[in-house]
Amino acid sequence: MKTDVVIIGGGPSGLLLSQLLNKAGIGTVVLERRTRKYVLSRIRAGVLEGGTVDLLERAGCGDRMHREGDPHEGCYLSTERGMFRVDFRDLCGRQVMVYGQTEATEDLYAAQDEMGATVIHEAMEVMPHDLDGDPYVTYEKDGETHRIDCDFVAGCDGYHGVSRSVIPKGKKEEIERVYPFGWLGILSRTRPAADELIYANHPRGFALASMRNANLSRYYIQVPSDDDPEAWSDEAFWAELKRRLPGEVAETMETGPSIEKSVAPLRSYVCTRMRHGALFLAGDAAHIVPPTGAKGLNLAMSDIHYLSEGLIAHYKDNDGAGLDAYSDRALRRVWRAIRFSWWMTSILHRYPEQDDFDQRMQEMELENLRDLDAARRAMALNYVGLPL
Ligand code: APR
Ligand code: PHB
Repeated sequence: MKTDVVIIGGGPSGLLLSQLLNKAGIGTVVLERRTRKYVLSRIRAGVLEGGTVDLLERAGCGDRMHREGDPHEGCYLSTERGMFRVDFRDLCGRQVMVYGQTEATEDLYAAQDEMGATVIHEAMEVMPHDLDGDPYVTYEKDGETHRIDCDFVAGCDGYHGVSRSVIPKGKKEEIERVYPFGWLGILSRTRPAADELIYANHPRGFALASMRNANLSRYYIQVPSDDDPEAWSDEAFWAELKRRLPGEVAETMETGPSIEKSVAPLRSYVCTRMRHGALFLAGDAAHIVPPTGAKGLNLAMSDIHYLSEGLIAHYKDNDGAGLDAYSDRALRRVWRAIRFSWWMTSILHRYPEQDDFDQRMQEMELENLRDLDAARRAMALNYVGLPL
């Protein structure tokens, strides 16, 4: 087989890239290790920046998002001194869209089907080769080995993928921060606790009240990263969540059986080179942020924006500048999101080693946000998404 670009990974990054390239008449093959059903059963983030919304529209899969998604013009921050609102629209004239990543991924698959794009599921042992010469990718399916010759390989295979590992150790630097806690998250068919997301700083630890739609809520609480989700009964979860949310919210919120429950560790990670010869990394394959800033999916989408532009300019105008600049351009935005997510994490969580000084500084960060428009504006600008 031969194509222009082999895309490893059929998550949101790989699918959006395939969609944008196919629309521009560039050939792609997506190789995904899992079944489509499995990919679409993963519960992931739910807040889309304006730029992500624009990109999905441009890719031709914005209709259902606009019908079913819920634009949010602000969010709440809850502290020991009470709750206040950060009004994105007032502060920076923009907003975000609450629409599950799972839904966006489903829309991308539907758009790929409509376009007749090639997505190969259960492609095992995927391996890129000869990235400095004549690139090709091999994989196994149904017991047979296949080879696809190509011009470029896009590594969109997430944090545990194969792509990043083919960049030799001496050619990349990996910069990481592991946080000393995780998030226990549940999904439940209940009315959301509030009209907007509530991010709560509480002496017992962080809590987040989020949602997917009018009858589907997503909640998280800070827990030790090695906590077993099965050891948390639904009752214990709701009780702990209610302790950490403002009293008036806790009193009126609807609870019910969880339909998903899991613990996710929190980390920041950057691979400082997103290109190696003909291989380009994008999304979780190149970087991870803690979920506190709601940036993971959005950052993946902005990588794809830069990468698709570079590839389209290469094929349409024989202009390689965009591809040459890809890694630096993407990383500039990545580092800003890494900082924002680290900052949101640091002002909202209780750290095991937090001393009185750290505690006061955290309180002052939150007071700054409550009292200073300028502080809230800086938060709002980052939360709704910095320009591409
Ligand atoms: N071969 C083929 N496919 C692979 C391989 C491999 N060796 N390793 C992983 N994959 C697939 C995974 O099964 C997954 O479907 O690559 C896909 C990667 O998808 P994601 O992990 O969702 O990563 P990405 O597409 O970059 O999405 C951005 O940002 O913060 C996150 O949760 C957010 O998942 C979202 C991500
Ligand atoms: C979610 O709804 O899953 C969600 C929302 C905001 C975050 C993290 C997760 O910051």
